[in-house]
Amino acid sequence: MTPMPATAAVRVRRAELSDLDDLVALEEQSFAGDRLSRAQYRRHLDSESAQVLVASANHRRFLGTAVVFFRKGSGAARLYSIATQAEARGKGVGSALIEAAEQAARRKRRSALRLEVRTDNDAAIRLYERLGYQRIGHYASYYEDGADAWRYEKALD
Ligand SMILES: CC(C)(COP(=O)(O)OP(=O)(O)OC[C@H]1O[C@@H](n2cnc3c(N)ncnc32)[C@H](O)[C@@H]1OP(=O)(O)O)[C@@H](O)C(=O)NCCC(=O)NCCS
Repeated sequence: MTPMPATAAVRVRRAELSDLDDLVALEEQSFAGDRLSRAQYRRHLDSESAQVLVASANHRRFLGTAVVFFRKGSGAARLYSIATQAEARGKGVGSALIEAAEQAARRKRRSALRLEVRTDNDAAIRLYERLGYQRIGHYASYYEDGADAWRYEKALD
């Protein structure tokens, strides 16, 4: 693939059925365990309580994805998953996806966005902290492989 220019304007849209192959392939490349299956993605596409977002830029229609959950009765939305194509990282795609997730949460009248992240995922932790997320908790052995998680939250205005 040709490199993505650093200046490309990133747009974020809702995922469609035709994105399923890309969603599953990116999930497999990005995560060793705790993956969303194709069936789970398909269900989330049709769900009232989930939004699957996809980032694109210029002619590149699939640069990354974020999955946001909206549990009934909860004042907070949850950023369940985020991943960008390896060759597109460091160019603002992840930031654009998080900002779109925050917008989606505001539209659904949620007052905060929460997420969990592996305590050894330095790139993701830096990104969340740069965007204003604050560490609010710790879960021991949270992931399939026994890794711990930090819990983060950002209040939305
Ligand atoms: C974590 C992840 C989603 C970040 O995505 P990304 O597209 O690289 O995110 P961004 O480009 O917005 O930000 C990453 C860095 O690039 C920098 N950056 C942002 N915009 C940039 C631009 N236009 N040009 C150059 N660098 C830029 C940011 O400053 C940021 O650096 P920092 O983290 O040191 O502050 C990505 O690394 C990934 O998919 N990792 C594997 C899956 C994963 O771990 N997901 C998170 C756990 S669920």
